[in-house]
Amino acid sequence: MRPHGVIALTCLALSLLGCSKDVSIEPEMTIGLKNLPGHFPEMEFPVENEYSEARVQLGKFLFYSKMLSSDYSVSCASCHAAEHGFGANTATSPGVFNRPGVRNAPTLTNIGYHPYFTREGGVPTLEMQVLVPAQEHNEFDLNILDAVERFKADSLVQSMSQKAYGKPLDYKVLMRSIAMFERTLVSKNSAFDRYAFQGDKQALKTDELAGLRLFYSARTNCFKCHGGFNFTTYGFENNGLYEVYADEGRKRLTGLPEDEARYKVPTLRNIEVTAPYMHDGSLSTLDEVIDHYDSGGRSHPQKSEWLKPLHLTPMEKDQLKAFLLTLTDHEFMNNPKFRN
Ligand code: HEC
Ligand code: HEC
Repeated sequence: MRPHGVIALTCLALSLLGCSKDVSIEPEMTIGLKNLPGHFPEMEFPVENEYSEARVQLGKFLFYSKMLSSDYSVSCASCHAAEHGFGANTATSPGVFNRPGVRNAPTLTNIGYHPYFTREGGVPTLEMQVLVPAQEHNEFDLNILDAVERFKADSLVQSMSQKAYGKPLDYKVLMRSIAMFERTLVSKNSAFDRYAFQGDKQALKTDELAGLRLFYSARTNCFKCHGGFNFTTYGFENNGLYEVYADEGRKRLTGLPEDEARYKVPTLRNIEVTAPYMHDGSLSTLDEVIDHYDSGGRSHPQKSEWLKPLHLTPMEKDQLKAFLLTLTDHEFMNNPKFRN
């Protein structure tokens, strides 16, 4: 057990910088952490797509297959690469015929827990999400029925499909198996998880704990949007990136002016490896992200009231970053089950 004294001492050291009295109690007691479940939740599978290893294997095969794209040049993994936490390390990612993408490819870490998909939240299930890159002109640009046709004579895929769903590959098998593979991309063994869910109070170092307290404080409000075990409320928010946005965000779906430039709050899991950041990949490093929040963001009619200038000291910025780095799950990142 980490002695309470260490926490109290850090708090003492921080007290001049605004560490409030109630922080001297165990960090779990602070409001944001209190809302975490006592355990890391189990993945739920839809009834029509119950878990089986054969389904995962087929889905993984298809996730890495370039046969899904019209010119055979890209797979899901081209934009959602395991080594980048199933995100991309470029602001946008080209699709077929090198056609430029429009948004930053988000991480698929713990994607099976999301209640809806894409930044405007317009796609209700992971199964349906598979159709999005298929039909996008600048992603796969290949009708899913044509993709299925391509595997007709592929005896390996056909036998995998039989084993997984008891029938030849069709569009439902394709959508379901890929979604199945995605649901296995569970990250729950970061240092933060060991600290918060596995009772290992040594898992976080002093500066990381100081960062955790900043993250879960009313001073920064980070947890208000990046709350819960997956570091997102799945709400739609504007974080003041621009005064004028090129991308309309959730308004694209709802048409409502109040949804302009609101984006689904992204998870922060494995954030260290998913740079660049934001819907357009315009911020390259975590330091830039922290500086952005420190400034309070640019004024925009939809900007959340939770954002305001923070006046973080250089030490506090380092602590916040140290905390964000504790969300990297090395076991997840090195898991051979996820790799091609
Ligand atoms: C050319 C690049 C590209 C390819 C290929 C691609 N994606 Fe994506 N993916 C993206 C981008 C960009 C977004 C963000 C879309 C948005 O926010 O509107 C995205 C979003 C997603 C999301 C939603 C994430 C969230 O947080 O809501 C999932 C799930 C996903 N992709 C899975 C897949 C799967 C499965 C495949 C293969 C069938 C695939 N993607 C192929 C670029 C790509
Ligand atoms: C009002 C809600 C809100 C608050 C408060 C907030 N964020 Fe965010 N955060 C967002 C949204 C929305 C995005 C995505 C914006 C976009 O895509 O352009 C985001 C993006 C990020 C990203 C980039 C994620 C990625 O994958 O691109 C990081 C890192 C981040 N926030 C950290 C923080 C930290 C640290 C704090 C506290 C200092 C904080 N956030 C406070 C809503 C919020």
